[in-house]
Amino acid sequence: MSKLKIAVQKSGRLHDDSMALLKDIGISIDNGKDQLKASAKNFPVEVFYLRNGDIPQYLKDGVVDVAIIGENVLIEKGNDILIAEKLGFSTCRVCIAVPKAMTYNSMNDLEGKRIATSYPNTVNQYLKEKGINANLHIINGSVEIAPNIGLADAICDIVSSGSTLFKNNLKEVETILKSEAVLAVSPLLSIEKQAILDKIQFRIQSVLKGRQSKYILLNAPNNKLQDIINVLPGMKSPTVLPLAEAGWSSVHSVINKNQFWDVIDELKNKGAQGILVCPIEKMVL
Ligand code: PRP
Repeated sequence: MSKLKIAVQKSGRLHDDSMALLKDIGISIDNGKDQLKASAKNFPVEVFYLRNGDIPQYLKDGVVDVAIIGENVLIEKGNDILIAEKLGFSTCRVCIAVPKAMTYNSMNDLEGKRIATSYPNTVNQYLKEKGINANLHIINGSVEIAPNIGLADAICDIVSSGSTLFKNNLKEVETILKSEAVLAVSPLLSIEKQAILDKIQFRIQSVLKGRQSKYILLNAPNNKLQDIINVLPGMKSPTVLPLAEAGWSSVHSVINKNQFWDVIDELKNKGAQGILVCPIEKMVL
């Protein structure tokens, strides 16, 4: 049986989370960071450790079948490649930034200016949409330093925490796109390998749903039970079990991790006690 070839970033911001996701979906790989590829022991996949910027072309050529890659890189270099899943980590945005001291009101302020970037296609497309002519300087690293050394008037690069811009005395003035890690698929994927990919996608969805949710257990006095249940959405409806102590029940449910603190406050106000919140490893609906 042929194996599905998965590309992951050899090093950089996506690497650790990509490997953690593979582990969470039960694909166990020897630590092969210094190798070009590694085989999974328990699933028909091979993992290729590649340079980020090379991955879109490998997908186009069918050298690898799928990849965990930043959407920003895909948009820059592989616009025609299908995204099978958004993976929810390594979020960032591709932005235009200018020196803090520069007066900036609109894109018109960039007319005729020099913009340093590693994302020429993305910037060009944006400039075209806005009807602005600017000169691009394509550089592959330390883009943020360009205005300080007189190489450019502005930059376009990825921003995550914003600390690199801050350190270089730059301010973000335009957000071109938002990005996160995605599972991208080669247009040349065979039917046989599609079946392996389907299994992987099912597992990824279970893990991502689990990551978005928390399992909650609490004790409720029976006379407050309905009020408390009304606060809990649950997967279907909460599980309610009698406690050994008369007049009390144990309530189990699943809540969205983003609503977590609000829900806890409401539950306490409605009389819930002994509230436990646990992570969920996988969730199959
Ligand atoms: C990127 C980007 C910025 C930085 C932004 O570099 O080029 O330098 O991250 O992140 P921040 O907003 O959290 O400071 P990265 O560390 O991915 O390495 P690279 O230079 O190889 O692109």
